[in-house]
Amino acid sequence: MEDMNRREFFLTTVGGLGLLGYGALGVGRTPVGPAGDAAIALRRNIYCLTDASPALVAYRKAIQVMRAKPATDPTSWLAQANIHGAFSAPAGMLANVCQHGNLFFLSWHRMYLHFFERIVRAASGDPAFALPYWGYSPTGKRDLPAPFRTPADPSNPLYVSQRRATINGGASLSASVVDAGTALLDPTFSGFSSLLEGTPHGVVHTGVGGPGGWMSAFETAGQDPIFWLHHANIDRLWEFWLASGGGHANPTGNATWMNQQFDFYDETGAKVTMSGSQVVDTATQLSYKYAWTSCVMVKFDPSMIARLTRFYPFPPPIWKELERIPPRPPLPDPIPLAEAQEMVTLGARAAGVRLPISPEKRRRLAAIPTEPKAGSQLVLLLEDIRLERAPSVYYEIYLNLPKAGADTVYTSPHYVGNLDFFGPSPEGPHGKATLKRRLSLLPAYLRLRSAKAWREDALEVTFVPRGFTEREEPAKALGERPQARIGRITFQVE
Ligand code: C2O
Repeated sequence: MEDMNRREFFLTTVGGLGLLGYGALGVGRTPVGPAGDAAIALRRNIYCLTDASPALVAYRKAIQVMRAKPATDPTSWLAQANIHGAFSAPAGMLANVCQHGNLFFLSWHRMYLHFFERIVRAASGDPAFALPYWGYSPTGKRDLPAPFRTPADPSNPLYVSQRRATINGGASLSASVVDAGTALLDPTFSGFSSLLEGTPHGVVHTGVGGPGGWMSAFETAGQDPIFWLHHANIDRLWEFWLASGGGHANPTGNATWMNQQFDFYDETGAKVTMSGSQVVDTATQLSYKYAWTSCVMVKFDPSMIARLTRFYPFPPPIWKELERIPPRPPLPDPIPLAEAQEMVTLGARAAGVRLPISPEKRRRLAAIPTEPKAGSQLVLLLEDIRLERAPSVYYEIYLNLPKAGADTVYTSPHYVGNLDFFGPSPEGPHGKATLKRRLSLLPAYLRLRSAKAWREDALEVTFVPRGFTEREEPAKALGERPQARIGRITFQVE
């Protein structure tokens, strides 16, 4: 990392697999050694595999074997999906224990994938099986990988019809759905985790699932074979964030994060437990690594660099500032800096709301980079989010955007992240529950300050509707009925 220009490094991240490939600048050249590492499974990019690749042969076989087992068998396909979420699960079986919206999001899903991978090995009879990851990228490939949609019939264990039709038809997800760039910029674990949980995680879920599809809800997501590859990519992005320097670290000083035990089933069907302290190093503790080098190269296009540098213009001062905000323990109580005075209705047009910041709160904000007790996390809290219908669009969130228009694009420094609606199914017992989202504003705050577009007196928040695939018009997808309402919006320091 030291000998690498951080900005270039970041460009490879953002362009990711598409722009230069992770290997191109020597990032992560060490995933597997030729010898001695035989026991380390290498998780590869699905876009680099073919139907005949051993990982896909084994995965298809395992799905058939697991689907043939009853839900009362812990190693069955349904029992594994039920651990995450289920409308109804057999009595006494683990169910509905997925961790979302909290500090366990990344670690819990890592454990879940680990045991699933072991079960797939046993079911397929391939002890070398490693779960592939879905390496979507804003500048590269972002269609549902072909083996998961062709042939589009039940003879293909990777295909399910419970997905958005355009996605099963090979349409590409919109670029801002899959861009982890903002999350990867956040220097704090909790900020990174919360941003990543929304984008790409949550928006990819509803983007693939569509209204009523399996990937769109907690209770059914694990039944879609792509779920596991999507989460392998989220897990890989966690590794990438850690490897990218800037003091990025796991919250190993947090005893609850380290020691809280979670239940799973292993490949023998036995109940097993695992805690955060057992998943901090994938290679030594869980015996897997990610293949960073990508087969997915798009043709080099200089305008791409121009577009990306507009979004990631990291003059040295920004990196300096990021380093001046070392991860600190969160404040015992978050301090609200501003609040929206009205409810926001999200429909087919951009919607905005103003959060006035009082002079006293402005001083509090100014102290954050330097004052050790000032807290280190800037958070936009969206609470009491009521879905009016199944997720038909998502919203890009912007701060202090002069004017939302047809040319508003998420590569603007005003962009914060996306509002996703992945959660309990509207048809399930928790369907009436409201959603809550916590977005770290640190990356946006620093970008806006360096662009001289940060405003002292107020935070203007704009929600811009987007179709999940590029050709999809939000107005067509929604008509006149709104998508959701947000009851409470708070800007706070933690
Ligand atoms: Cu627990 Cu992607 O979901």
